[in-house]
Amino acid sequence: MKMKKVLITGCNGQLGRALFSLLKDTNIEMLNTDADTLDICDAAQVDKFVDMHKPDTIINCAAHTAVDKCEIDAANAERINALGPKNLAMAAEKIGAQIVQISTDYVFDGNAKVPYTEEDQTNPQSVYGKTKLAGEQAVINNCSRYFIVRTAWLYGDGNNFVKTMLKLADERDILTVVNDQYGTPTSAIELARMILYIIPSGEYGIYHGTCEGYTNWYEFACEIMQQAGKKTKVIPVATSEYKTEEKSAKRPMYSVLENKKLNSMGNYRMKEWKEAFTEYMK
Ligand SMILES: NC(=O)c1ccc[n+]([C@@H]2O[C@H](COP(=O)([O-])OP(=O)(O)OC[C@H]3O[C@@H](n4cnc5c(N)ncnc54)[C@H](OP(=O)(O)O)[C@@H]3O)[C@@H](O)[C@H]2O)c1
Repeated sequence: MKMKKVLITGCNGQLGRALFSLLKDTNIEMLNTDADTLDICDAAQVDKFVDMHKPDTIINCAAHTAVDKCEIDAANAERINALGPKNLAMAAEKIGAQIVQISTDYVFDGNAKVPYTEEDQTNPQSVYGKTKLAGEQAVINNCSRYFIVRTAWLYGDGNNFVKTMLKLADERDILTVVNDQYGTPTSAIELARMILYIIPSGEYGIYHGTCEGYTNWYEFACEIMQQAGKKTKVIPVATSEYKTEEKSAKRPMYSVLENKKLNSMGNYRMKEWKEAFTEYMK
């Protein structure tokens, strides 16, 4: 379905801002909302807003993304990550709109040795992962025109690993970073481009949307230091040696995603993670 009028929820988040930067100079009308203007957990408000403005497309960028906080705040995580998408999906179905729900590598357990495809069995190990999977299912069960896009290790305009590393680099001479958790850093702008590519295809379903290639957090930290010209020394450490808070969420050890559905559609490819990161740093 062609996109003429799009409702973006969570517009002040990393992905919301990236979508704005790509759509602002197009003739696609944007309804940019965030928690203060449209609380996705409020079913009546969502229903009223969608019915009044009649977007043809809803891109849900709103989520409870603080994975450790989700462990101690499960009810709120469930509301934002599962109930919110359900409200949006029901409202979309009522007016014949399509919905894009963003999901995560945390729906997998991370025990694989080869990249996960869209068809692989999910088995979330954290509150964040469980509630995001419930959000996927709520969308699938309540809206006939849906795109679920699972991404990972997202960075853009907001709080993320890159910002954290750069801040720490200004404060410390040495940093320790885990080198046995694998995944793919994905820039919010690359994810936004991919989303805008798949929407007009009308090929609904579950997609993986991460940059190409993979790395671990230690190597990513080294790349950040190098590209930012920081002198801070980065020391690799095993997850088992790394001190974390008692209530922190279990991270998948291996969550490389294969963009199988996307790559089967045509020649469009997401950028290699280092190339996308270089673009971001510029
Ligand atoms: N960040 C990652 O590494 C990562 C990895 C994999 C998947 N994802 C997924 O990618 C998507 C985008 O992530 P992101 O990093 O762009 O997220 P983000 O920067 O944390 O932004 C999320 C936005 O949602 C808003 N929000 C929270 N509760 C809301 C509510 N009840 N109603 C409306 N808006 C609400 C937040 O507002 P407040 O700030 O005011 O709360 C914030 O503006 C999410 O679905 C996330 O689960 C992210």
